[in-house]
Amino acid sequence: MCGIFAYLNYCVPRTRKEIFETLVKGLQRLEYRGYDSAGIAVDGNKKTTAEDNSNIVLIKKKGKVKALDEELYKKDGMDLEAELDTHFGIAHTRWATHGEPSALNCHPHRSDKNNEFVVIHNGIITNYKELKKYLNSKGYEFESETDTEVIPKLIKYVYDNRERDDLSFSTLVERVIQQLEGAFALVFKSHHFPGEAVATRRGSPLLIGVRSKYELSAEHIPIQYNSDLFKEGVQEKNSHNRPDNSTAVNSAGDGKAVEYYFASDASAIIEHTNKVIYLEDDDIVAVVGGKLSLHRLNSLAGEDSVRAIQTLQMELQEIMKGNFEAFMQKEIFEQPESVFNTMRGRICFDTNKVILGGLKDHLKEIKRCRRLIVIGCGTSFHAAVATRQILEELTELPVMVELASDFLDRNTPVFRDDVCFYISQSGETADTLMALRYCKDRGALTVGVTNTVGSSISRDTDCGVHINAGPEIGVASTKAYTSQFVALIMFGLMMSEDRISLQPRRLEIINGLRILPDMIKKVLTLDKKIKSIADELYQQKSLLVMGRGFNYATCLEGALKIKEITYMHSEGILAGELKHGPLALIDKHMPVIMIIMRDACYTKCQNALQQVTARSGRPIILCCQDDPEVSKNAYKTIELPQTVDCLQGILSVIPLQLLSFHLAVLRGYDVDCPRNLAKSVTVE
Ligand code: AGP
Repeated sequence: MCGIFAYLNYCVPRTRKEIFETLVKGLQRLEYRGYDSAGIAVDGNKKTTAEDNSNIVLIKKKGKVKALDEELYKKDGMDLEAELDTHFGIAHTRWATHGEPSALNCHPHRSDKNNEFVVIHNGIITNYKELKKYLNSKGYEFESETDTEVIPKLIKYVYDNRERDDLSFSTLVERVIQQLEGAFALVFKSHHFPGEAVATRRGSPLLIGVRSKYELSAEHIPIQYNSDLFKEGVQEKNSHNRPDNSTAVNSAGDGKAVEYYFASDASAIIEHTNKVIYLEDDDIVAVVGGKLSLHRLNSLAGEDSVRAIQTLQMELQEIMKGNFEAFMQKEIFEQPESVFNTMRGRICFDTNKVILGGLKDHLKEIKRCRRLIVIGCGTSFHAAVATRQILEELTELPVMVELASDFLDRNTPVFRDDVCFYISQSGETADTLMALRYCKDRGALTVGVTNTVGSSISRDTDCGVHINAGPEIGVASTKAYTSQFVALIMFGLMMSEDRISLQPRRLEIINGLRILPDMIKKVLTLDKKIKSIADELYQQKSLLVMGRGFNYATCLEGALKIKEITYMHSEGILAGELKHGPLALIDKHMPVIMIIMRDACYTKCQNALQQVTARSGRPIILCCQDDPEVSKNAYKTIELPQTVDCLQGILSVIPLQLLSFHLAVLRGYDVDCPRNLAKSVTVE
């Protein structure tokens, strides 16, 4: 996936240096979405005239945004102090899908050597080969290996062959997207339309921030102040529905100062403004003369569309690294708070009631279903594995957990009386989204469990739960996992409220949840000890993680964290499977971590421990405090506070998150941006 950022200042004088800084800062916020190359397009020093067709300047650089930032100031002939009263700049950070990371393949892409049209794109154009062939046949020459490049070429083709001179920029874009298949968020800039911007999306996220010193009113800037949308309690319900379209997005620039920020997600906008418009698929937004207007693809002449301006409740500090070395580390340490926020306003600890606002209207229907299917990828899938057993127990329904890609490969039978859950931090993962569409087509009720307000999954599902973990920037998912875990358990508790036989179990879990944030704080105090274990292990090639029952998901998730950011081989092994193969790996040199907690699997786990030590294995054991039986067979122990069996996985995963972080730092890797990976995988 890639990150899109663009900035338009209208009647707001900004030096070119300030514009560079805004664009670069925006890209840095989005760097987690892709970071193999980055580029910008801005106006050059010259004034555009009919004869002079070279005003837009492209600066592109392989590597991270920092490399682009340095490049900007090396560019000859750019007057950094020049003040631009009205200007539109676009910027992009890329994660390669078509064509290797290189300055040529990186965005913005251009229509021709004069940069008449330039565009930034997030997504994939699936019919690019056909379009390229056609454009080649018309004499258009391509310079990159990307799918994206057909877009600027196509808009130039439409422009060159227009039937009238007065066709608007947005009409040109509309004609272009009529020809595109696949997924895209696009922002266009053109020297034929100086100071104008056009943006559109289909399947990839895009939102626009609006900042003006004038009061935003329906007359002036597009407005509906729907700040209620994001108030506690109302948030889930409304954000799973389409925004209220009752007020026109229609502003009058009229020389009134205004700034617009276009971005793939809110983290790049929040430091400038909290007023945003989320675009829907096939929306086309144009800014002309400081005035923003929106219309829909193929809408009838004169038919305007409307979108509410929403008020973001995100704080800038939520996305800043603070005193931590990396976002991942910050996010690990935020978990006492993030799990608390997942529960806030939903569990009443006085009455033992659990209400998930986004699900309550569908509860009856869910209770009537014949099975639950929980679908996700990577860490989000592990959250499903972690909670499967307790969901079966509390809902008394069969629960299938599915990796989205495998689910689709199998053409899994899905029925109208199935309820399908989609677990996704970003809410944009392509495989999970496709599984959602697959199940929707078969009439199942769809439930989103996401961390991203306004994301595709939260909008396209029938109902859902926002996990409210706050923005997760590190590519390795940590706090989203524990919040997904808690959200799924809360769903089980809500489903079992009227089951008399389950009340003691419910009570035990609710009491466990009440003190969970404090328990997490205790686990985090083990950080130093875990760092010392990392000091011993960081030069190893391999690391096995074993456990079973409620803690098996921790093994999978711990191993994923380790391979993802340390590039060591790591495997999560179900301890019950040990003697069916993995035991052959064990000797005194193989690093092994075992999870042995006091739960129903305690004795079986001790058997596995015997099998390991009998082969001279020297396991590091995650166990409950004061467990001499286990400790005496351990090379080292990490002692955890004990909680209810089905919540123990929330505590046992944290030492492995910390361990992977320290191992990656010791091995000298970039913790937040592991090689070859992106935060959200919006391609199949
Ligand atoms: C986790 O550390 C990974 N980055 C990855 O497995 C991730 O969980 C997966 O790509 C799913 O993403 P999502 O939760 O945004 O759908």
